[in-house]
Amino acid sequence: MSSLLGKHIILGICGGIAAYKSVSLLRLLVKAGAEVQVVITPAGKEFITPVTLSALSQKPVVSEFFTANTGVWNSHVDLGLWADCMVIAPATASSIGKMAHGIADNMLITTYLSAKSQVFVAPAMDLDMMAHPSTQANIELLRSYGNIIIEPESGELASGLVGKGRMEEPEKIFACLETYFGRKNDLKGKKVLITAGPTYEKIDPVRFIGNYSSGKMGYAIAEECASRGAEVCLVSGPVALTVSNPSIKVINIESAREMLDACEDVFPRADIAIMCAAVADYAPSDVADRKIKREHDEVPVIHLVKNPDIAASLGASKRQGQIIVGFALETDNEFANASEKLRRKNLDMIVLNSLRDKGACFGTDTNKVSVIKSDGSRLDFPMKSKREVAKDIVDSILS
Ligand code: PMT
Repeated sequence: MSSLLGKHIILGICGGIAAYKSVSLLRLLVKAGAEVQVVITPAGKEFITPVTLSALSQKPVVSEFFTANTGVWNSHVDLGLWADCMVIAPATASSIGKMAHGIADNMLITTYLSAKSQVFVAPAMDLDMMAHPSTQANIELLRSYGNIIIEPESGELASGLVGKGRMEEPEKIFACLETYFGRKNDLKGKKVLITAGPTYEKIDPVRFIGNYSSGKMGYAIAEECASRGAEVCLVSGPVALTVSNPSIKVINIESAREMLDACEDVFPRADIAIMCAAVADYAPSDVADRKIKREHDEVPVIHLVKNPDIAASLGASKRQGQIIVGFALETDNEFANASEKLRRKNLDMIVLNSLRDKGACFGTDTNKVSVIKSDGSRLDFPMKSKREVAKDIVDSILS
């Protein structure tokens, strides 16, 4: 049974070519048993007809403040109170700007401003509009209001250009809503510290020692924990990702030292720490203050010093009731190495992933993990999306 059964959903449609995809989204929502009220901007009606939308939703489509022939007032306040959630897909640059700044000049924006429930926003526009600082700033404002941004995909756009701006597919938007309504609140009241991404260890102002971590695994864990009610602090190395859940506070760092400082600051107040970052084990002992030139005859030698082991440091200061979960990234002798790290770092659980598994570990959207606990028990999972792996990890922590 879908978690959307019986839910009241406002589907907001703005004037963009991606409006044709809203029809598929509407069908998916209705098929799942949701009651959907479509609110469309005047420009939206240029792209998709209200007749199609009302036939599929079995409700008159709302667009104007008053119904022309009867003079009946469409109450945005009532609609806002009626909804269990509002999803605006597609959300154009213009509507995003109006939503961010409270410019209530049409029925969709007034409904948005009146909505008391969670709002999902799925932007869709051409790549340059998407990348423009004003659009990005407006999206950040919406995020800061607690709206969940369903990031657009990269791909071919209506203009023929290729880049980021294509509205997320209806199936994925639908899945976001299902996850939202199906979420368990089993981490409510818990504070979770998560590390993600690589660390960069500076050689000189233009070079660093780093690794291939994209942050996808750690960010998926952060989203999973937040969607289950946790207050999340995500200490992140340099990655190209954003978070969508407002309960995730991101602390951006670059080096292992900075990651250690941030973790040591947050950990005393945390209930759970999940150490997913790929921390560089070594850093140059000296950072050149100018770019190292190549005209020297001799090849420069970079002396390295050991970085702090952040997981081990937290493990040493762990108090009763705190749980620390580590990761082990291995290429050989996987289980023995992971079990040794679990013991040496005083962890409660370790998530093993091996570079020998194609589609696992760095940069991929999938991972294949085994969970080993300090009591010696072990669970092997098949290859799954990183979001599903995150769910398995959280389930394992709670069990
Ligand atoms: O970011 P993605 O592209 O999605 O890739 C995900 C991932 C492969 C990075 C992730 O799944 C993963 O395996 N993260 C841990 C990588 C790692 O550094 O493993 P390790 O075996 O070297 O370290 C063991 C544990 O100690 C880890 O929890 C690590 O965060 C921690 N550690 C390691 C070194 C160090 N100096 N300090 C640490 O805290």
